[in-house]
Amino acid sequence: MAVSACIHHLRLFGVALLAMLALGPARAQDDGAHVAIACGALGIELELCRDAAQEWAAKTGNTVEIVNTPNSSSDRFQLYVQLLSSQSADIDVLQIDVVWAGMLESHLADLEAPLGKRVDRMFPALGANNRVNGKLVAVPWYIDAGVLYYRKDLLAKYGYQPPETWDQLTRTAAAIQQAERRAGNQRMWGYVFQAKAYEGLTCNALEWVSSYGGGSFLDLDRQFTADNPQARAALNRAAGWIGTIAPRGVLNYDEEASRGVFQTGNAVFMRNWPYAWALAQGEESPVRGKVGVVALPKGGPNGESAAALGGWHLAVSRYSRHRAEAIDLVKYLTSAQEQKRRAIKGAYNPTLTALYDDPEVIEANPFFATLYPAFENAVARPARPAGARYNQVSDAIWRASYDVLQGDSKAGPALTRLEDEIARIAYRARWNEAAR
Ligand code: GLC
Repeated sequence: MAVSACIHHLRLFGVALLAMLALGPARAQDDGAHVAIACGALGIELELCRDAAQEWAAKTGNTVEIVNTPNSSSDRFQLYVQLLSSQSADIDVLQIDVVWAGMLESHLADLEAPLGKRVDRMFPALGANNRVNGKLVAVPWYIDAGVLYYRKDLLAKYGYQPPETWDQLTRTAAAIQQAERRAGNQRMWGYVFQAKAYEGLTCNALEWVSSYGGGSFLDLDRQFTADNPQARAALNRAAGWIGTIAPRGVLNYDEEASRGVFQTGNAVFMRNWPYAWALAQGEESPVRGKVGVVALPKGGPNGESAAALGGWHLAVSRYSRHRAEAIDLVKYLTSAQEQKRRAIKGAYNPTLTALYDDPEVIEANPFFATLYPAFENAVARPARPAGARYNQVSDAIWRASYDVLQGDSKAGPALTRLEDEIARIAYRARWNEAAR
């Protein structure tokens, strides 16, 4: 009897403890609102989000619940669509990808009045992206742009400079990979990136194609430009990396998988977003102090370096029962003070341009200063022209790119099919009629 009573108490305690963990300490106050925020969990994202949200809760007397979401942006999108389509009030604040503004617009509250002025102090491309149908659908939280990580120590050891063109990258990667293998590291690879069939591959493919002057698949004025000689050259070049300077397994790599290989010391170069910097430089990282970051290579001497524009923004659900508090949380999290903290601790690029003049931010992330143009001029995926159909367009882009990388198709036929597919999406969406 005594034992079962004891177990019963333990169970009650366990339940109470779980509830406390889920809801955070500020749940104690009964008069505040309970606000749920869905944030990402890539790297130390979740920890940064939780700490700041709880700080806000403690200051305001509200309570906050952190909802963990899948790492893959495609999976996260599906989850949001399910919740929002059922008009669920379960999530008040959502961390949304830069390419989702047009697709989720109808479910999101207008933030122009409370936060429009702040957005005007951010990178202009972000404000333009988030003002959809006359409504500010989200506040940019951090900006992403693809960058090239390299092993400073290995390049110095073998006498190479960071590459300026993809050809140089290919040669340097092959030479160092071979030399390191001869020296005993059989696991060394030249280049890792994101080639899994998902949104991250659309970003990589856009960078290759755009760096060769091959456009961005679908122009702002909805011209179909996917199939052109530069785009073909870019994709065929990337296909040549598979199984030579990149492991075949790269066909299943997302951001974290590539970071895993690079951070354990088994790759010379890596394409990734800035967040990987803070982790590669972390105390436990085997490559700490050995990493440099430069702009992605150009597609040949006449090409340009092209970084895909990424990043995540905070939006408020139209179905939130605590809209004022949710907006206040967004205000808190996107403030200069909070963006600065995230930049220093996690290498999350501020969206407020003034923070790039902040010495502490630059000291923690020297490449924020040298690569400022890469952030400012990052190349957008065709989310604005595709609007509500962006996912279909991106899905077609990554499938075509994947076929080429995997060796199932040459770039020519794959891009011809892609252009046809985008034309069919346009036809079904009646873009032409809308334009008339
Ligand atoms: C990063 C970018 C985001 C992009 C995603 C693709 O999270 O910030 O914009 O869609 O990677 O994997």
